[in-house]
Amino acid sequence: MMRNTVMLLLMTAFFFTACSDKPEKKQAKSTTAKSEMPAKKSTATEEETPAEEEPTSPPMTPEQLQKAKDIIASVSADDVAAVGAKKKFKMLCAACHGFTGDLKVNGAKDLTKSKISLEESVAQVYFGKGLMTPFKGIMSDVEIVAVAQYIAKEIAK
Ligand code: HEC
Repeated sequence: MMRNTVMLLLMTAFFFTACSDKPEKKQAKSTTAKSEMPAKKSTATEEETPAEEEPTSPPMTPEQLQKAKDIIASVSADDVAAVGAKKKFKMLCAACHGFTGDLKVNGAKDLTKSKISLEESVAQVYFGKGLMTPFKGIMSDVEIVAVAQYIAKEIAK
């Protein structure tokens, strides 16, 4: 008899909290959504959209290009040739550029139309640019030069 009463009390308590909780949460959600959304939207469309619609990222700086020159000068042609550049490209670059370089995911440039210098290419892979992630620390200097050369020789037309 005692056990039943305790169980009943527990169940009532549970039922009560379960029921009283739900409307509160719903209310909290809808009020925040109502009060915050319009304010955010209006400022975003007025101030932020123009900048977002033009994904022009700043060019590589002279310092970055100098670093690329140093990297190119520091690697030996034999070491570069020993890198499986095509495989590296497929592993690390194809997610955005595709196997053939023209996939253009996430605003990635069409590499088949690329006309940039080896220096610029190395700088960009090393430091990243815009939405492209930097590969400094992920690829070795030799690998970066090898993949940049692979793009220039095999992908860019
Ligand atoms: C996360 C997606 C992503 C990955 C992964 C990626 N890229 Fe890019 N890549 C981009 C974007 C975005 C641009 C355009 C950057 C800009 O100019 O704002 C770009 C541009 C380039 C350019 C410049 C082309 C030109 O003519 O201006 C080169 C070269 C390049 N990527 C090489 C590579 C290499 C090599 C790898 C792999 C090591 C790689 N990318 C991996 C997104 C990516």
